[in-house]
Amino acid sequence: MLESMLVQPDGLLPAARYTSQEFLDLELEHVFGKVWQMAGREEQLVAPGDFLEYKIGDESIIVVRTETGGLHAFPNVCLHRGTQLAHGCGHFEGNSIRCPYHSWTYALDGSLRYVPDREEFTSIPDDLALKPVQVDSWGGFIFVNLDPDAKPLLEMLDPLPTLLRAYRMDELKFRSYLSTVIHANWKAVVDAFNEAYHVQGLHQQILPFTDDVSIAYEQFPLGHAHYGQIGTARGILRPSPRLGLEPGEYDEGELLYMRVAALGGAFLGEERDAVQALRDSGPPEGSTLLEAYQERRLRMLGGRGFDTSGLEPAQMTSVEDTYVFPNVVGPLYPGTALMFRVRPNGRDPDSCIKDTWVLEWPAPDAEWKMPKIRDYPNWHDRNWGEITEQDYTNLGYVQAGMKSKACEGLRLNPRQEGNILRMHQVIDRYITEGEGRP
Ligand code: FES
Ligand SMILES: [Fe+2]
Repeated sequence: MLESMLVQPDGLLPAARYTSQEFLDLELEHVFGKVWQMAGREEQLVAPGDFLEYKIGDESIIVVRTETGGLHAFPNVCLHRGTQLAHGCGHFEGNSIRCPYHSWTYALDGSLRYVPDREEFTSIPDDLALKPVQVDSWGGFIFVNLDPDAKPLLEMLDPLPTLLRAYRMDELKFRSYLSTVIHANWKAVVDAFNEAYHVQGLHQQILPFTDDVSIAYEQFPLGHAHYGQIGTARGILRPSPRLGLEPGEYDEGELLYMRVAALGGAFLGEERDAVQALRDSGPPEGSTLLEAYQERRLRMLGGRGFDTSGLEPAQMTSVEDTYVFPNVVGPLYPGTALMFRVRPNGRDPDSCIKDTWVLEWPAPDAEWKMPKIRDYPNWHDRNWGEITEQDYTNLGYVQAGMKSKACEGLRLNPRQEGNILRMHQVIDRYITEGEGRP
C-alpha cells in the first residue's frame, strides 16, 4: 500500500500523496515529527516571558523567551490533566506559566513550581517539568524540532545559511503577518510557489514584464532548493520570450517600472521614484537602464545603513525564491523577504494553513513594533491581489482534480518542476528510511 503512494520510478507522483489520510498521517509522524520547522521569529519574543505557539497536526508547542535571554520550548500540555497552557502569542506575567484550569504553575524553563494543595498528592516527583522540545534559531527565525535526537539545525539547513548570508535575514523584522486557510493539501500549496512554470498558464497578465523563461532551479541534498534568475539573465530587461517581441517592440523603462510596481511593497516609495527619475534622465553613458537602477538601489539601501557587502547590483532587482524544506517558500530581495509557511490544517489532507510573512529591514533609527497577526479563516475575506487570488482559486481546483479517480498522478517537468520532485523524494526518504539525508 505504501509503495503505491511513493514517488514512482518514472517520476510520477501518485495523487494519494495529496489526498489520503494515510499519507498525511505518515508525514506528520515521519516528516513533521523529525524536521526542524519554523515556529516564528526572534523579534516576536523580546522580553523574558514573551511566548508564541506553534501548531502542527495534533501538536502544539510553546516557545518562550527565558530570563537569561535564551529560548525554551515545551509541549503545550499541562502535567495535571492535559489542558493547553497558552494560545497564540503573548506574555507570561511574572515569568510564570499558570495553567488556567487548576493553577499548576511552571517556571519559564518548564519546571513545576507550584501545585495548589500539593501535600494531598502522593505522586508528584520533585523534579517534574514540562518536557523540553528542541529549539534553535538561524537568521532570526526560530525553529523547533519534535525529535529529541534531531541533528543540529545548522547542519540540517545546509547550504541555506551560506547561500543567504548576504541577505542578513537576522536583521529583518516582521512588517506584516497574515494567516489563512487554503482548501488544498499543504504540498500542493508549497508546489505552487516552488516553480515559475505556471506563470505562462495562470498569470499570463505578467508576461509583458516578466522573463519567465530564463529561470534556473537548483536543488540541494536535504530537500532545500531555490530558483530565480540565477546566473546569466540578471542583466537583461525583457518581456517573456514566449510573447515573441523584438527589442524595438517594448520599452525598457516601462518594463522596469512594471517590474518594480509588481513587487509592490518589496520596494520603498523612494526606490519606485528612482525608476521614474532614471526614465526621465536616461541611463548614464555605457550602462543600461537596468544596471543604472540596480546601482542606484544598492546605493540607497547602503545609504540607509544596510550592510550591502556581499550583494551584487544584479541582485537588486532579481528575486531569489527560496524553499526551506519542508514547508516554507518565498521570494527574497535584499532588505525584504516574503515567506509563505504552509502547514497541514490539523489532520485534514484537504486543507492547510498558509501564513504570509512580510519581513523587512527597518532602518536603525526607525521605531519597530510587532504587527498584529491577522487571521482570515476564509481567504475570500481579504483582497490578496490578482496574482495570489489566481493561485488560491486554482489550488481549490487542483485539490478537487487530484481527488478524482481519473487522476493517475502528477507528471512533473524535470527541470522547471525539479524543486517539487526533490521535495517529494526527501519526504519519501523520511518515511521509508527515517531520515532526510541521501
Ligand atoms: S489541567 Fe492544568 S492545572 Fe489542572
Ligand atoms: Fe502563482
